[in-house]
Amino acid sequence: MPIPYHKRTHRCGEPNASDIGQNVRLAGWVHATRDHGGLAFVDLRDHTGLVQLQFNPDHYADGHKIAQALHNEDVIAVEGKAVSRGDRVNPKLATGEIEVQVDAIEVLSEASPLPFQVNDEFDASEDACLRYRFLHFRRPEVQEVFRLRHRVGRAIREYFNAEGFVEIETPFLTKSTPEGARDYLVPSRVRPGSFYALPQSPQIFKQLCMIGGFDRYAQIVRCFRDEDLRADRQPEFTQLDMEMAFVQRDDVMAAVEGCVKRIFKDGLDLDIKTPLPQMSEREAVERFGIDRPDTRYGMELQDITELVGDVELPMFREAIQARGVVKCMVAKNATSLTRKILDGLNEEVIGIDGPGLPYTKMTDGEGGATFSTGIAKFVKPIQSALCEQVGAEVGDVVFFMPGRTHTEAGKFLHPVRTKLATLLDVIPKDRWDLLWVVDFPLVEWDEDEQRWFSMHHPFTAPLDEDIPKLESDPGSVRAKAYDLVLNGVEMAGGSIRIHRHDIQQQVFKLLGISEEEASAKFQFLLDALRFGAPPHGGIAFGFDRWIMMLTGAESLREVIAYPKTARAVCPMTDAPGPVAEDQLEELGLKLNLPKKD
Ligand code: AMO
Repeated sequence: MPIPYHKRTHRCGEPNASDIGQNVRLAGWVHATRDHGGLAFVDLRDHTGLVQLQFNPDHYADGHKIAQALHNEDVIAVEGKAVSRGDRVNPKLATGEIEVQVDAIEVLSEASPLPFQVNDEFDASEDACLRYRFLHFRRPEVQEVFRLRHRVGRAIREYFNAEGFVEIETPFLTKSTPEGARDYLVPSRVRPGSFYALPQSPQIFKQLCMIGGFDRYAQIVRCFRDEDLRADRQPEFTQLDMEMAFVQRDDVMAAVEGCVKRIFKDGLDLDIKTPLPQMSEREAVERFGIDRPDTRYGMELQDITELVGDVELPMFREAIQARGVVKCMVAKNATSLTRKILDGLNEEVIGIDGPGLPYTKMTDGEGGATFSTGIAKFVKPIQSALCEQVGAEVGDVVFFMPGRTHTEAGKFLHPVRTKLATLLDVIPKDRWDLLWVVDFPLVEWDEDEQRWFSMHHPFTAPLDEDIPKLESDPGSVRAKAYDLVLNGVEMAGGSIRIHRHDIQQQVFKLLGISEEEASAKFQFLLDALRFGAPPHGGIAFGFDRWIMMLTGAESLREVIAYPKTARAVCPMTDAPGPVAEDQLEELGLKLNLPKKD
């Protein structure tokens, strides 16, 4: 019989002992069914939880028959009375003290056999979950991720609203916005042969908002980057993007810290202490081998170049002759690192074009603590000085890495440090190590392409005192840039921008962007910089990354509603897909695909 399902008295997780004796009207999905002592039981579910329905053939014979024929995930509406479960209370359910004695049921929609079960028998591959995302959404832990995402988004909007930021929407059909990735292109029908680029970020538009006098802008916005995908990268992702006029670095940082406090409070009910610590990029690379250090545990990289001057190991010698460095890292109490594991780490370093991973162990020998195995015989002559400097004791494994620079040595040691931290289980749980990394170099030299590249993006301002070195020594120019790092993950990146036309031109030139190219790509920005540009700066948070960290997810795919796989495909819609010949024709396009074998 028809039930006014649009007038539910409760959600499924709500009825409790205070409703005993009351009539209730509920609707939801069949979570599980059971027959017991002549009675049929149905667990009814919606996003708030489960409630037990009881169908008694003596009380409601037709209903009992319908209940016996239900399938999991059928959608039903019921009316009935909340009754006490007596001594059959289920303490695991919020509704566990009652059940609903049903006296009317309507099947609103039948479910076909399911690709996987949504209830406790859930056991589906990630691929199946993404293909049938709507079924996966029905699981409470998945619902919770997206509800937390909603709460955090709302907290961010409320925060920026209260601080006087204006939300301004920026275009998706636009021109290239350089953030270091490939563009996604959209062909134009009315201008055949021309393409829009989807924005890699709203960078230039937010700067123009500052030049236009908005003073403070914030937007939660989709960005598009065609780059190699990893667990923490998606082709289409969301930024919290903001920009402020008449500010310096500390002002942007203070605004961000206020927002971070709100994110933790509203997301996890945690109080974060501010101001957050700061570390220079140089210190981060020297101590941790990377510009986004995970400071939750030790195993820091140490510089032993001075100590190993006389060590007869060719790879050390080469580094020292090239005026490079030799770094080392001590893994404490690491006797569990077997030869097989150490060989595996060595192979991994070679796999990323490194020189291998020399190591030695500190063991208890006859004459006391001594280096043994690995490169022991080479480093024995400096054993006591080395142990004193780096604090190696019996049970520790000492790893070594030569490099032309700290950055190069770090490139190979950092992945080892991360891997060891997991293997040795030294990462403390429930710790949130937030820090700012500051004073990045403005540009870095690319050996293959033989040219300078921006470390951040081409609109980042150099430190005032370094401006004279833009021509004479670009590699030493530091940027007014800052990254926010959480437990070793880059959560946000920003900078104070160039607001002077002449300096922007100078930086374009340094980056090998000719005047013609700059004019073709960024004339509107160059114009704007001529018509009264206030000093300004800002930052963008990786919104999905925040949700990933707050929920402990291992991949962005878990926190994006309809994500892409590592091959940039949506398993549900099967996008991207081919288009009809006449669509191509209309756009003036002809495919020229490589032949399949
Ligand atoms: P940046 O390129 O550093 O800066 O991006 C800002 C933050 O966005 C996140 N992020 C990503 N998240 C998921 N998938 C991706 N493919 C991806 N790429 C980046 C990161 C990163 O810290 N316009 C500048 C910001 C500014 O200067 O204000 C920008 O986009 O968490």
